[in-house]
Amino acid sequence: MTQSPHTAAQSANGQTATGQTVGDRSADQPPVMIRLEELTKRFPGAKRNAVESLTLDIHEGEIVVLVGPSGCGKTTTMKMINRIIEPSSGRIILNGQDVTTTDADTLRRKIGYVIQQTGLFPHMTIGENIATVPKLLGWDSARVRARVDELLTMVNMDPDEYRGRYPKQLSGGQQQRVGVARALGADPEVMLMDEPFGAIDPITRDRLQNEFLRLQSEVRKTIVFVTHDIDEAIKMGDRIAILQEGSRIAQYDTPERILSDPANDFVKDFIGAGASLKRLNLSRVSDIECGTWPTVRASDAHEVAHRMLADSDRSAVLVLDDAGRPVRWVSADHLRRGADAPLDQIGSVPQAVVQPRATLSDALNELVAARYAVTVVVDDQGRYQGVLDFDQLNDAIRSMRSAAVAAARTEFADEEGPS
Ligand SMILES: Nc1ncnc2c1ncn2[C@@H]1O[C@H](COP(=O)(O)OP(=O)(O)OP(=O)(O)O)[C@@H](O)[C@H]1O
Ligand SMILES: [Mg+2]
Repeated sequence: MTQSPHTAAQSANGQTATGQTVGDRSADQPPVMIRLEELTKRFPGAKRNAVESLTLDIHEGEIVVLVGPSGCGKTTTMKMINRIIEPSSGRIILNGQDVTTTDADTLRRKIGYVIQQTGLFPHMTIGENIATVPKLLGWDSARVRARVDELLTMVNMDPDEYRGRYPKQLSGGQQQRVGVARALGADPEVMLMDEPFGAIDPITRDRLQNEFLRLQSEVRKTIVFVTHDIDEAIKMGDRIAILQEGSRIAQYDTPERILSDPANDFVKDFIGAGASLKRLNLSRVSDIECGTWPTVRASDAHEVAHRMLADSDRSAVLVLDDAGRPVRWVSADHLRRGADAPLDQIGSVPQAVVQPRATLSDALNELVAARYAVTVVVDDQGRYQGVLDFDQLNDAIRSMRSAAVAAARTEFADEEGPS
């Protein structure tokens, strides 16, 4: 393996001073997109370095999450990557090119940045906010307008309704989405996202996370994502860097490995209690097979629903609308009470509904409160796909656990076996 003369923090086997492996992952890894080399920041007059000799490789197309306690240097690290803050020492290599001292404006236009607390310009409309970087790049107005509409659609906001509004006329969650849309403006290869879903309620946050992962499966950006929530890190990250004060790396690894094999007490404390429950954040609904449930169409006669109920051991049928979306649970009791009403006007509205990208943790959460002890699974368009119950979740958790044990054994055998 050839070593760059500048990677002094790495010994010949690619280990950093913190004992973590960087830059020598298997050959099938995509190329390194961002390399931080001994990046250090000392603010004027400060007693300690805010960031202390951080060395980190981020590969093309992956989401790397920086997670760590408040004040540990996450934002400072992000701002050094696009040089809003100039490093005191160290280097930043972007796509093979040393950008530590190149023109900072040019650099920033290549990198999308979602600022902690959205940071939308209050006096500009949503459309103008999103258009900022494309305009700076000199795109003609028709192209800018088309891009704004495309981006609003991408983050699930109707362009006609929102492009002319001002940030204060949006909800917190909508502002966060606009923040993401603005960062995607000029289609940058790299996105820096500093607690992009920080100040919003847990339910909206979950939805934004899922939307964002869907978006990422299409756009495949290289993303550095900051949070101080370990659950969010596990859900969003392909790899997670757990940082201590001064952005010192406590562990840089996949979420699986961090949960199953924390490197030290700091990581253990950071994960906190309930590591097994947190594993539910590792798998998605789409990873497991869902079950079936008797369904009827909203336009069907009551007779059809009666027959369905008689033929199954379930106590309700699920009513789907014309597009195949679940709209009601209807039981025998509902049918009796709502004798003449159409099926989509009786019964109860399904509350426990998840999309394929939801985690098993999300599904379990829904399930706990669900009426018929199942979570309904729908696709991105909200169309019925199947159901999940406790037994299926339990099976999935068991197989995850045996897979983790098997992987650990293989690795142990690899390490111990003859080379
Ligand atoms: N402009 C500045 N001048 C002096 N010190 C600063 C400046 N910005 C940050 N610091 C200090 O650097 C350290 C790291 O701050 P930073 O904002 O990077 O933390 P963080 O990990 O992003 O925290 P949080 O989770 O609260 O956002 C802190 O001790 C902070 O007080
Ligand atoms: Mg911060």
